[in-house]
Amino acid sequence: MRILVLADIHSNWAALRAIDEEFDHCVFVGDLVDYGTNPLPCIDWVRRNVDAHVRGNHDHAVAQRVQATSGQGFRQLAAATRPLHWDLLDSRRMKFLGRMPVTTHFRVEETLLYLVHATPRDPMDEYLGPDEAAWSARLAGIDSDFVCVGHSHVPFCLELEGKTVLNPGSVGQPRDGDPRASYAIIEDGRPSLHRVEYDIDEAVAQLRESGVEDWVVEMSTNVWTSGGRLTREQLERYRSPR
Ligand SMILES: [Fe+2]
Repeated sequence: MRILVLADIHSNWAALRAIDEEFDHCVFVGDLVDYGTNPLPCIDWVRRNVDAHVRGNHDHAVAQRVQATSGQGFRQLAAATRPLHWDLLDSRRMKFLGRMPVTTHFRVEETLLYLVHATPRDPMDEYLGPDEAAWSARLAGIDSDFVCVGHSHVPFCLELEGKTVLNPGSVGQPRDGDPRASYAIIEDGRPSLHRVEYDIDEAVAQLRESGVEDWVVEMSTNVWTSGGRLTREQLERYRSPR
């Protein structure tokens, strides 16, 4: 039994369709939208192929029509790409984003999965990387074999107190220095992390065609090709008021 675990697709269809894996079930732990500009095939793929899903902070913000403040770093990119989503998404797709549950369980045979985008303590917003002590403190009362999470865009797998905390990393905007699309597979109860190269040029071309400003294309290209590791000089450049 093979379960494909995906997170943080972020409207990057070039990355999502590069994942060429057979699976019996697929789960998605949130953040379908923002950053990229090709949300429609991503949403439709998830609706067709995913057995269980949860809402990410970006899904929530798009569905609730929250205007992103420009801020710094990645927030600037969300602010620049979110209005395009409101132009592109019909009410059916908007409702799908807004009605995704915040947490859910999914059972496959003997294996029980708990899905949450960020952490059980703060389901949509708390950033937590592979910190064993911090995760241990957040597993009390969670009854499952796997706790599948996303949000940090950094893949990891921790074995703690009889549970496995699994972050598959980000499909559409990795931030661990590796630009390849990231995902996980649970096969007969055993987790593994995977990467696959995708056509970043296609994602950049799609972004450019969407009509966003040149700095958005430049910053996104740097984020995608560096695996989310912008240089100090790049961060300074994008920090100037716009
Ligand atoms: Fe995300």
